Amino acid sequence: MTVSSQREATTRRYLMCEPKYFAVEYSINPWMDPSAPVSAELAVKQWSELADTYRRLGHRVDTIRPVPGLPDMVFAANSGTVVHGRVLGSRFRARQRTPEADHFRRWFLDHGYRDVTMPVSINEAEGDFAWTGQFLLAGTGFRTDPSAHAEAQEVLGVPVVSLQLVDPRYYHLDTALFVLTESGVGTVDTARIAYYPAAFSPGSQRVLRRLFPDAVIATADDAGCLGLNGVSDGRNVVLPTEAKELADQLAHHGYHPVMVDISELRKAGGGPKCCTMEIRG
Ligand code: ARG
Repeated sequence: MTVSSQREATTRRYLMCEPKYFAVEYSINPWMDPSAPVSAELAVKQWSELADTYRRLGHRVDTIRPVPGLPDMVFAANSGTVVHGRVLGSRFRARQRTPEADHFRRWFLDHGYRDVTMPVSINEAEGDFAWTGQFLLAGTGFRTDPSAHAEAQEVLGVPVVSLQLVDPRYYHLDTALFVLTESGVGTVDTARIAYYPAAFSPGSQRVLRRLFPDAVIATADDAGCLGLNGVSDGRNVVLPTEAKELADQLAHHGYHPVMVDISELRKAGGGPKCCTMEIRG
């Protein structure tokens, strides 16, 4: 039996927002240069290919209607953390993005979710929270407040492990780390993750080594194209085309890399994962 035949995909449900009004009009992370040209049309094309990729892999993609004047709304991952059907909404740090949170809150209510809590602390949702199947890894340092970690633990009822981000280019946890295989899938009892160590403080690096001794360690080049902003279903791993070394490493571990061109959205500091909120349960 080959390694890859042991990798099992599980069907996912994603929420996405078409970048109809995409633009880089302000700068709230080092990737954003408002003087550089940006094409909303090209962003829509790349986003549509990403959504089609998920559908082709057998996943369900729901969409929320984009709102004029909210150019970053395409980054749906920042607007909610959903675990076991419980929804913890978001509270943005930047005032330019603040209104997005309420559009997503209403989407959940309109789609039958009754357990929806809006956070008190600054909380950029899956931008800074990664579900391992057993606990939430939670980033802080640039966006999400440390107090949001405790709040998430209370609201979602799952353990939270705090991690300190130290490099402004990797301002959200999902720019530096993602889960390849959740724990509890098949015979896997520890989740497998990929991450870029230099994005984390020395103490958090030690925590990650202790929790995930078998992690896939990304190179500076992989991180520098936002290659850690990947989306895995346990077997297929959607990555930005430039993340070549990471793709090779993952193939070696039996995963199936699926490359997408997301270059236009990277101008706002985003990749595949930023565009993708996972709805669990
Ligand atoms: N321009 C957006 C911001 O800085 C990009 C968000 C990317 N999303 C993510 N999940 N990392 O807020």
